[in-house]
This record gives sequence, C-alpha cells and structure tokens, in this order.
Amino acid sequence: MNIAVVGTGYVGLVTGTCFAETGNNVICVDIDEAKVAKMKNGEVPIYEPHLDVLFDRNIRQGRLHFTTDLKEAIDQCNLIFLALPTPPGEDGSADLSYILAVAEQLGNMITEYKVIVDKSTVPVGTAEKVHAAVAKNASVDFDIVSNPEFLREGFAVDDFLKPDRVVVGTNSARARKVMEELYKPYVRQGNPIIFMDERSAELTKYAANSFLATKITFMNEVANFCEVVGADVDKVRIGIGSDSRIGKRFLFPGIGYGGSCFPKDVQALAKSGKEFGYDFEILKSVLEVNDKQRIILVDKIKAHFGDDLKGKKFAMWGLAFKADTDDIREAPALYMIDELLNAGAEVCAYDPEAMDNVKMQYDGKIDYADDQYAALKDADGLIVSTEWPVFRTPNFKLMAELLKDKLIFDGRNLYDLELMEEHGFQYRSIGRSPIDPS
Ligand SMILES: NC(=O)c1ccc[n+]([C@@H]2O[C@H](COP(=O)([O-])OP(=O)(O)OC[C@H]3O[C@@H](n4cnc5c(N)ncnc54)[C@H](O)[C@@H]3O)[C@@H](O)[C@H]2O)c1
Repeated sequence: MNIAVVGTGYVGLVTGTCFAETGNNVICVDIDEAKVAKMKNGEVPIYEPHLDVLFDRNIRQGRLHFTTDLKEAIDQCNLIFLALPTPPGEDGSADLSYILAVAEQLGNMITEYKVIVDKSTVPVGTAEKVHAAVAKNASVDFDIVSNPEFLREGFAVDDFLKPDRVVVGTNSARARKVMEELYKPYVRQGNPIIFMDERSAELTKYAANSFLATKITFMNEVANFCEVVGADVDKVRIGIGSDSRIGKRFLFPGIGYGGSCFPKDVQALAKSGKEFGYDFEILKSVLEVNDKQRIILVDKIKAHFGDDLKGKKFAMWGLAFKADTDDIREAPALYMIDELLNAGAEVCAYDPEAMDNVKMQYDGKIDYADDQYAALKDADGLIVSTEWPVFRTPNFKLMAELLKDKLIFDGRNLYDLELMEEHGFQYRSIGRSPIDPS
C-alpha cells in the first residue's frame, strides 16, 4: 500500500517506519523543515529504542520517504494517517486545530477515493468534525477512520509491531477492508483487530489512558497512606498485584504520571464529559492527587531542610518523564525543578537522553552534568526522578564520597531500604519508612 503519515513526531515516525517495515511505501510529512531535513539525512530526530535500525533499513530499501509537501505525499497515497498533535487548550480540552486545518487542506487536494485515518488521540465526535472539514472542499469520496494509537514511548517499536490489539472505528465496509489488509501482518499471533464505530474507538483511547492514570494515582495514594501508618507500599503492591483481577502492572508508586499523554488525556476526557453534561468525579480526584504527587519529593526536602532552600544544591538524576525516552513533556522532574528554584535552591541534573530538550526550556536556570556522578559533587542531596536502568545499581561508595550530605530523595523507589541502611544513607522514598542511620 502507499501510505502518507502526516505529522512525524513520536507516533507518526514510529507508525510510518513500522508500516514500511512490512513492505508498504510510506511518505512522512511534517511542517518542521529542520526535522524533515534531518530525516532525509538519515537521522532519527527522537530517541526511541530500536527505531534507528528499522528507520535505516527502510530508507535504504526505498520504502520510507520524507517531505514537507503535503500535496506531493497525498497524490501518491490511498491511505492517509493523521498523527498530529492534540495538545491541551487553555481549558484542558483537546486542541483540534492541527487536525482540522490539515483536514481542510486535504479536501482541496484529494482527486480520488482516500481513506483518512485519525491516529491522534481525539475526543468523541472528532471523526464527524474531520469528515465535515474534509467535505467542505472535497469533490470525491473519502472515508474517515478512527484508529487510536496505544504505543508506549520507550517500547514504541515493539508495541507497534506486536500490539495487544488494534482498535479501528469505522462504519464503512470499504475502509474496513483496507484497514484489515494493512494490519494483518501485525496480528498474526491472534491479537485482535477490534472494529467498532468511530465514537467508541475515540473513547476507547481516552478510557484506556484515564484508567491507567487512575490506577497509578490510586497506588500513589495508597503509598502516601503507607507512610502515615508505617506500612511498606512495596509489600502492599506485591500483595494486591498477585490477584489476577488486579494484575502486577501499573502498581509502582512514584512521583505522579507525566508525559505527553496521561496528563492531557485525563484532562481532555474530564472536559469532554463536561461538554456532554457529564461530570467525571473520579477524574477530578485523579488530577488533584497527581498535581500534588509530582512535587511530593519537594515536600519531603522542605520537611528536612525547611522551606527556604537558599544555598542548598541538589543533584537530580533523571529529567525525562520516564526511562528510555527523551520526552520531557509534563515530566515530574520539571515541576520539581520549578519548586526548588522558587525556594532558592540550585539544581545540577543528569539524564542519559533528555538533557538537550531540557536545555531548550531551562537554559541557564540549572546546571547539567556530563555523567551521573559529576552531578553529585558538593550537593546537599540527590533527587532520583526517573527510573533509568543506569541509576539502579550505582556505585554507592563513590556517591557517598561526592555528596556533601549522604542524603537521597528517591521518587522511584529504586533502592532497597536495607541497602541504604548498610551504606549509611539518609533515604526518603515513596510509601516506605524513612531511613535515618544512627
Ligand atoms: N507520544 C505518545 O506516546 C503517544 C501515544 C499514543 C497516542 N499519541 C497521540 O498521538 C498524537 C501525536 O502525538 P506525538 O507524541 O507523536 O506528537 P509530536 O508532537 O511528537 O509530533 C507531532 C508532529 O506533527 C507535526 N505537525 C504539526 N502540524 C503539522 C502539519 N500541519 N502538517 C504536518 N505536520 C505537522 C509536528 O511538527 C510534529 O513533528 C497526539 O494526539 C497524541 O496524543 C501519542
């Protein structure tokens, strides 16, 4: 098949590359000229494990192309994917302006039947809006399909090539056939392609993300209560996760969910509920708890040092919103940095992949270290904000030598309490007893 992917970000680039991997011809379109020039030059513009191998192979074999010219891409393709941003608007609702603007352009450009697929995360009723926007200028037949994406950054290639399920929302038999054909190579193990109407498909994506965000948030509240009553959240986590109705995943407590999806999707679903006259009580609580959770380590820091942190310097391990990505959108680390700077503290950060992105936003406001140990020099304490594997078994002896105070605030519960005691660290984590070596 000949496929155009409009919007070549985390989702669009993975989608385009993985479609090329199964033999399709793919042209990726983006308005960001610098990004397109990079990709034409053979450079992957984001950090996503394993993507580079597929990216190189498909470019070399002539199946993956890049352009800034939407018309050029559309003319060659019968299948058009929209992987455009849907950021939160000022009131928290999803901003559909990117999608609707492209939809209007498509109406003018298409000269024969096309299947236009919305891969972006969009509220219920968007397929109808996209249909209307294309129809305004179109003189040929087309179908709009809702095909939300469930990939996780850090595992995106694997998730795309072996999805748990593919959700396709369409009432058109003609479009359904095209989508079935396209996804066949990805569901050979029996993982389903679930067909439904467009509205149900759109809501499936928001319901999935909001459910996961709620699960994380519930566990964070349990962790906070563990601290109050002297229970150990890790024991509780294993205790409840062994129940197959609950499951082991998404039960790790921490400093709140972040990233480009959960925060905006929970907000957008709550907002979408309001628009339809429905009050999502549970999501209101999730949003409130998460707002507090992402700065909970700063509360612990202030409980230790007092509210005025002038003259204090903190090392920060991790800036990305989670491990294995350079994505810093809604990263708890950034919320903590803001709070720390406001309280007068200095921060020296290290992240294996995300520092360049943070430098663009926080130029001159914090320091950056060349490696994780360099960040510790003369710091009053270490803050662990991302669970990068390289932070899991560090050289504690060296850490103790470099830090001014042997003090760790761990937002990801990376270290065993016994180990912290053994190495003589003062240690604060989430939902577990504080360690204060005598
Ligand atoms: N990132 C994820 O993990 C993830 C997972 C599932 C779903 N989603 C959803 O997928 C959508 C895209 O997310 P993303 O993270 O890939 O966004 P992104 O910001 O990484 O990428 C969007 C791309 O679209 C480009 N763009 C903007 N306007 C354009 C236009 N008019 N024409 C062509 N290109 C244009 C931008 O330059 C950018 O490269 C969102 O709705 C998001 O909620 C994201």
